[in-house]
Amino acid sequence: MAQIVGAIATSHIPAIGKAIAENKQNDPYWKPFFDGYGPALSWLKQAKPDVVVMIYNDHGLNFFLDKMPTFAVGAAAQYRSEDEGWGLPVLNSFPGDAALSWHLIEHLVADEFDITSCQDMAVDHGFAVPMNLLFPNAGGQWPVKTIPVSINTVQHPLPTPLRCWKLGRAIGRAIESYPKDLRVVVFGTGGLSHQLDGTRAGFINKKFDLYCLDTIVRDPEALTKLSVMDLVREAGAQGVEFLNWITMRGALLGQVSKIHSNYHIPISNTAGATLVLENRTEAQSQAA
Ligand code: DHB
Ligand code: FE
Repeated sequence: MAQIVGAIATSHIPAIGKAIAENKQNDPYWKPFFDGYGPALSWLKQAKPDVVVMIYNDHGLNFFLDKMPTFAVGAAAQYRSEDEGWGLPVLNSFPGDAALSWHLIEHLVADEFDITSCQDMAVDHGFAVPMNLLFPNAGGQWPVKTIPVSINTVQHPLPTPLRCWKLGRAIGRAIESYPKDLRVVVFGTGGLSHQLDGTRAGFINKKFDLYCLDTIVRDPEALTKLSVMDLVREAGAQGVEFLNWITMRGALLGQVSKIHSNYHIPISNTAGATLVLENRTEAQSQAA
């Protein structure tokens, strides 16, 4: 059976993609940020995933304001990397696993989630930057298949934290009922607090970010008590991307332990953060 072996959450700021393209990992400005990813890379190497379920938000590339699905799942053999205007290099297409995607979509719809299935899908920096960051030596030959799960964090009304948590639980059940022996890692991208426009442009709330980083590990259901407007107030208009992290955490059904976290301000307009979680079955936990 497929097994979710863990999860990684990370910011997806376009400036990271630019720094990678310009080889700036050791610049004084960027070094503390990239150094924070060393333990994530080591963990990923030993986790040896076959598949990444990428929980992210599209930023107006594949979906625009005229058509905005609340939850969309890719069901293609590959996903095109495109740049919606940040000047980032276009990467090699990301391989998909259409059979696993359809298994996921069927289970989610049976579980009463109304999913938009996408057999043709371009992915933006919310997907590509984390792939570039976490598979730095891929040379464009991505070592995993990918399943994009896009959550509307752009145009209100947004799904609630509770709804995203429940979606995550359903994703976890669906993946773990897949009969192939696949090792799956879930990525949740975006956040933490940031606001890119309006009178609060540049808003960062370190206290709330650190609360989220801690609570999502120990007591994730506490976060489901928040409303979308609580998130907007505390994390900023774009800080609602934390919904992607909540969904990711929901997909971990086993015994969850924190391997690593890092928090670094400022990266662009956004507090840059990463979190690595391991997910073990009861039997694996007892054997350890
Ligand atoms: C920034 C952050 C984002 O999440 C994003 O999608 C675009 C830009 C930023 O901090 O610059
Ligand atoms: Fe974003």
